[in-house]
Amino acid sequence: MRLSVTVNGQRREVDGLWEGESLLYVLRERLELPGSKNGCEQGECGSCSVYLDGTLVCACLVLAGQAEGREVVTVEGIADGDELHPVQRAFVEAGAVQCGFCTPGLIVASHDLLRRTPRPTDLEIREALAGNLCRCTGYSAIYRSIQKA
Ligand code: FES
Ligand code: FES
Repeated sequence: MRLSVTVNGQRREVDGLWEGESLLYVLRERLELPGSKNGCEQGECGSCSVYLDGTLVCACLVLAGQAEGREVVTVEGIADGDELHPVQRAFVEAGAVQCGFCTPGLIVASHDLLRRTPRPTDLEIREALAGNLCRCTGYSAIYRSIQKA
């Protein structure tokens, strides 16, 4: 199977896909974009969050074939070249990164929240990140970084 998809603004072609491959597998293993993490492969942890045509999705739950002709933005596409996006910078400054495994998914989900709701309440932040699990930070620094961003 062949896939043609736009990833972070660039048209990409992938040949030889198996029909059951996930978008997450294609991003990480075929397109050398390891930012999106494989925490559970079951839609439970949110560490693989990406945009598909502007909608936040778990890339592990999307078949690669479903992305045909569509636009994907990963955590790598959120920064402006070498310039971190404000939400990425806030995570670093607030100490919201420990092992970092959950961070890419949290960054994409936080980015999605802030573009819809630039000044979210605590409750809105908690609701928006309810699908993203972190086993290290206890979440306080993560919530603080979003308020800061
Ligand atoms: S790896 Fe996709 S939700 Fe956990
Ligand atoms: S920083 Fe380790 S899982 Fe979140």
